[in-house]
Amino acid sequence: MVDLVHVPAEPDHPDAWTVEGTVQVGDAVDLAIHGSTDISLDVPMTRATMTEPHRAVHRLVALPAGSPRTPASVVGRAMIGLPLVGNAHLAVVYVGVHPHWRRRGIGSALWDAGLEIARAAGRRVVISDSSYRTEPPPGPDALESPTGSGRIPADDDATRFALARGFTLEQVVRHSVLDLPIHVDHLRAAPGSDYRVHLMQDDYAPEWREGMAVLKTRMSTDAPSAGLELTEDPWDAARVVADAADIRRRGQGFLVAVVEHVPTGTLAGFSMVEYPLDRPAVVYQGDTLVLREHRGHGLGMLAKIAVLDELGGVRPAAQRIHTWNAQENAHMLAINVALGFRQASVDAEWQRPL
Ligand SMILES: CC(C)(COP(=O)(O)OP(=O)(O)OC[C@H]1O[C@@H](n2cnc3c(N)ncnc32)[C@H](O)[C@@H]1OP(=O)(O)O)[C@@H](O)C(=O)NCCC(=O)NCCS
Repeated sequence: MVDLVHVPAEPDHPDAWTVEGTVQVGDAVDLAIHGSTDISLDVPMTRATMTEPHRAVHRLVALPAGSPRTPASVVGRAMIGLPLVGNAHLAVVYVGVHPHWRRRGIGSALWDAGLEIARAAGRRVVISDSSYRTEPPPGPDALESPTGSGRIPADDDATRFALARGFTLEQVVRHSVLDLPIHVDHLRAAPGSDYRVHLMQDDYAPEWREGMAVLKTRMSTDAPSAGLELTEDPWDAARVVADAADIRRRGQGFLVAVVEHVPTGTLAGFSMVEYPLDRPAVVYQGDTLVLREHRGHGLGMLAKIAVLDELGGVRPAAQRIHTWNAQENAHMLAINVALGFRQASVDAEWQRPL
């Protein structure tokens, strides 16, 4: 009924056409939900995910049985992400089926194959996510986040599928968009002499790599993760360098603002954005974090504004920034709302034991 093909990492492999197939289905799924492909993975981004040093990524595509082996025949796709450093007990499994090809068992076939890969890798927890165009009001048509913040539509293909597959809703994430240019002069504040901002583009200066590793490690524990079984994901300076190379390999540039705590010469916080070089209008907000011991001094806003100021010169055609925050992450959401981010869509974070 359905043929599954593994997507190879090598661009000269005979099945390399599957990369375009997976991108084509991703675009169709995203168009149906968001009305745009701003946040879809394109071919270079998809290829780059297949050879990341700190995560093994498997991809599968589904075709109606016997159809020609071309990208246009692909009607479904799966991604199985296996973290290799922290969180090695987890598999992130995502399945997407072209809206015209649903309820024919294609999602199930992809899902079963994905689960096999996760099982063979010895993973004991599966995490997945799904997106929805709007967050419903409270009521019988909404499924409430167990965190108490956020809701998703109960009557939706993805919700029904996840519940039928034994997943529990753990968290709701707000996707927001900020239209550029922005006017933030009223939000500017001098940081005081204890803090100083440094900006970097497309790489991390050697003197800040150790500090970035501390911040990235804290990011894995300090961002709210509700009931998701996430543990610390340790970073070191080498991983920071590898991560920068990874972003460049995806065909993206990045800007990062780090905040130095001047008396100790250590980093107190950072904020970064990434942008696909072939989509001049689009920017993604990456991580932002201020270490607990430095919170309450406006450093999150300071770092974000430093990045936004620089972005105007580096990506003059940028029109919008996408960001994702847990609905219970009140502090980060407050900063984003003050900057002018408006809610665009909503994501569910699902989990089930394996
Ligand atoms: C979720 C998704 C992958 C399902 O793909 P699919 O090919 O339609 O899935 P299947 O045909 O194998 O359906 C499997 C089961 O899921 C449930 N299901 C899926 N869609 C449903 C719907 N609209 N209403 C009720 N149940 C539904 C049913 O239990 C179904 O079994 P059944 O058809 O025997 O009743 C697809 O809807 C999709 O791509 N959604 C957007 C991407 C996404 O959010 N993916 C993440 C999901 S966690």
